[in-house]
Amino acid sequence: MSAPLLFMDSERFQRFFDRRAFDFAHALGGHPLFEASRLLALAQRLARDPRDVYYDAGRAEVGQRWDDLPICEVPIDELLRRIETADAWIVLRKAEKDPAYAAILDTCIDEIIALAGRSLRRRMKLTNAIIFINSPHRVSTYHIDRECNFLLQIRGTKTVSVFDRYDREVLPEEEIERFWTVDNNAAVYKPQYQDRAAVHELLPGRGVHMPINAPHWVQNGPEVSVSLSINFHEHDRELADIYRVNHWLRRSGLRPTPPRQSRFIDGIKRGVYGSTRSVRRVTRHLWAHP
Ligand SMILES: [Fe+2]
Repeated sequence: MSAPLLFMDSERFQRFFDRRAFDFAHALGGHPLFEASRLLALAQRLARDPRDVYYDAGRAEVGQRWDDLPICEVPIDELLRRIETADAWIVLRKAEKDPAYAAILDTCIDEIIALAGRSLRRRMKLTNAIIFINSPHRVSTYHIDRECNFLLQIRGTKTVSVFDRYDREVLPEEEIERFWTVDNNAAVYKPQYQDRAAVHELLPGRGVHMPINAPHWVQNGPEVSVSLSINFHEHDRELADIYRVNHWLRRSGLRPTPPRQSRFIDGIKRGVYGSTRSVRRVTRHLWAHP
């Protein structure tokens, strides 16, 4: 059995897991797998598939859309060598393709399941280890995610603002509907509500848990920052399907009932979207097999 990597208070975990952000300690601060030379080698291997590496470079504002960020066309190894001054945001999306990082992912996931209960294993569709490498002072722009996330700070510092995903002034229903349906960047930063964020100061050895769809943004500190995101997607598509139906109802001029207010209405919407999914699957099959 490997040594524990995450140190989370069990009672706090039970209360807040996938509901509210909370911070915790971990054993990966300064770990040798995240030294510059190891990350360079990993990035070069992953970059053989362009889907596994994303990067941009240039000044970013907290409310800026991802498709509006400055494109960077230098090779990843050159950008990593200039990371101190490049204003870069680098994402190594599938670190688990390397067995050494896969072992860390597996240990962390086992520890999260030990805290959450075995039923979580059945809910998990896909687990994933993402490494973020950021230049000093670089901002990671405001957004919401599809996955449940544990962000572990390895090198450098960062300040993470996480908002309550149930605050409908911060995150209106329409933005969640658009996110699940047509726009990954649908959440819009509202500076007037910044003081509602829970602000977590991350040092090496500290981490923060972010529930699915909890809005957040990150300000990096004065050094190069390296963080590891341990995350998982869930099988459960029910909530997402209701938001998708609500998106189309709203586009038709209606004001749909938000999820979880009526089990009856939620059931109808899940049935409707499930039927359209079946139709789409059959249609794809027919197109593929004329
Ligand atoms: Fe995120």
